[in-house]
Amino acid sequence: MGRKFFVGGNWKMNGSKKTLGELAASLGKANLPEDTEVVVSPPFIYLSYIRDTLVSKIAVAAQNCYKVPSGAFTGEISPAMIKDCGASWIILGHSERRHVFGESDELIGQKVAHALAEGLGVIACVGEKLDEREAGSTEKVVFAQTRVIADNVKDWSKVVLAYEPVWAIGTGKTASPQQAQEIHEKMRHWLKDNVGKEVADSVRIIYGGSVTAATCRELAGMADVDGFLVGGASLKPEFVHIIRARQKE
Ligand code: PGA
Repeated sequence: MGRKFFVGGNWKMNGSKKTLGELAASLGKANLPEDTEVVVSPPFIYLSYIRDTLVSKIAVAAQNCYKVPSGAFTGEISPAMIKDCGASWIILGHSERRHVFGESDELIGQKVAHALAEGLGVIACVGEKLDEREAGSTEKVVFAQTRVIADNVKDWSKVVLAYEPVWAIGTGKTASPQQAQEIHEKMRHWLKDNVGKEVADSVRIIYGGSVTAATCRELAGMADVDGFLVGGASLKPEFVHIIRARQKE
């Protein structure tokens, strides 16, 4: 199938020009595998700076955007502006956008459609909350969120799906490799039934939620885990180990 391993570092609202600049420079010096796609996502205000500091083979992602190119939307940023700063990816539907900032499925769908139309690659996140998992509705939640994304995608080659169980994000409680594989496999199956076999076989489904150097290798060994979206650990030197999760020691 040959899905290229994909590792994203979501720096969230962390760091400073100094610390993030040093992090970007250190990634440039690290020995990174050619067969892995690496993307880092700084806060908006550092997009240009990080693009200029990073080696060109590492791409830059924004953490959010609005759904139209320009206008009277105080405090918002458009995909056109993000591209203008040299970034080529965007994270959309992250659980912090959904649950801290109350973004609806509808808005996330509109953002996905607009970001893709503007030529950005989209890392589209889905995932259930703890009470939803405990109530046995993980699949229902994940499929409903995936449906909204799928309804807004024409070109799947520009999309990476991130399964991020909310209970695992920032909690130190990584999903077990079996838990991740189970949902990734079901998502691929859903894509086969609802979008098509070719998309199901080719789209990368990455896992996010407390991935660390200690947990990444076993997760990376799962058949349907095509990479990671890493929060906390992407700010530390161990991020390089996570990027190398598929490499032999
Ligand atoms: P975490 O964050 O690795 O700190 O759990 C993951 C994410 O939010 O993408």
